[in-house]
Amino acid sequence: MPDKHFVIPRQDINREDFTSSIPDFNRRSEFMKTDMGHKCIITSIVRLTEQEKLFKLRIIDHHERGIFRFKPGQFLMLELPGYGDVPISISSSNSNHEFLELCIRKAGHVTSALFTLDEGAHVAIRGPFGSSFPMDEMAGNNVLLIAGGIGIAPLRAPLFWISEHRERFLNVAVLYGVKEPSQLLFTYQFDEWEKINHITLHTIAEHAEAGWRGKNGMITDLFQDISIDPEHTYAIVCGPPVMFKIVCSYLDNLGIPMNRMFVSLERRMHCGMGKCCRCMVGSTFTCVDGPVFDYWTVMNLKEAI
Ligand SMILES: Cc1cc2nc3c(=O)[nH]c(=O)nc-3n(C[C@H](O)[C@H](O)[C@H](O)COP(=O)(O)OP(=O)(O)OC[C@H]3O[C@@H](n4cnc5c(N)ncnc54)[C@H](O)[C@@H]3O)c2cc1C
Ligand code: FES
Repeated sequence: MPDKHFVIPRQDINREDFTSSIPDFNRRSEFMKTDMGHKCIITSIVRLTEQEKLFKLRIIDHHERGIFRFKPGQFLMLELPGYGDVPISISSSNSNHEFLELCIRKAGHVTSALFTLDEGAHVAIRGPFGSSFPMDEMAGNNVLLIAGGIGIAPLRAPLFWISEHRERFLNVAVLYGVKEPSQLLFTYQFDEWEKINHITLHTIAEHAEAGWRGKNGMITDLFQDISIDPEHTYAIVCGPPVMFKIVCSYLDNLGIPMNRMFVSLERRMHCGMGKCCRCMVGSTFTCVDGPVFDYWTVMNLKEAI
């Protein structure tokens, strides 16, 4: 008979009770609760450009809709049955408990299939997942919201948050760069941001197009138009890694501390909740420890960018 003190109990590491009893280094147990799908109906689809559409989703179950909450910067796993699921940032206000907006670029297999759907189609979501932008920490300061291309999608949730709590912030500016002027998204909201929410908007396009009277150049050229007080400024930078690397090192040179700049990292994801290891950068899970990281952390993550 083996001594009972030497019998190692068999444990299934996928079981919730086991996982949540281990030390919570990565806040992973917190996310076990989100392994639940919500069926949604697509209530509207707005074609923003040839490549991007804005999908408005409503969680069908009244109770599930009532308790669904998220923070600016978090993402969902959006599932299209028969095709697969993709991580997509929530691009609407977290005070809107009726609808979720997702701005999606047609990139490949799943997103192309999503582009064939019509209003009334059903999809499923899991989440919300991941870390968020520290909106409360930023309050009382100037905020720069810097987007390159589709990076405006994750930036919209913090933008809504700031607009709804505008009195808590000093100067707020959106710096938004695209390759061609026709790629600018949400142009129909520009007036609202500027005139109603008192957010200064600066746009720039790398290449000119007929009828474009705005600026041409790289996104960093927009810094000539604004004055920055590094001691009282936070920055959220969303876009391709090459862009946020250039922007963040520019802001670093201006004296903004790296832990006051926030970026959203993109990795291929499957589970969204720290189980499949698909999104790992070193020992860090982009889905759970991120996708929002401060720039100091990103610089210390090997091969993050
Ligand atoms: C946290 C997070 C938030 C995101 N938010 C949005 C969003 O708001 N809107 C949006 O349009 N897209 C977003 N993405 C990117 C989106 O998830 C990918 O475009 C999507 O998964 C592509 O799936 P697919 O099956 O259509 O393409 P695939 O057929 O799988 O791939 C097509 C191309 O896209 C590239 N790709 C696939 N997945 C990713 C990825 N995760 N990151 C970067 N490149 C990828 C592939 O390398 C390939 O070149 C986000 C990604 C992450 C990780
Ligand atoms: S996506 Fe599965 S561990 Fe991050």
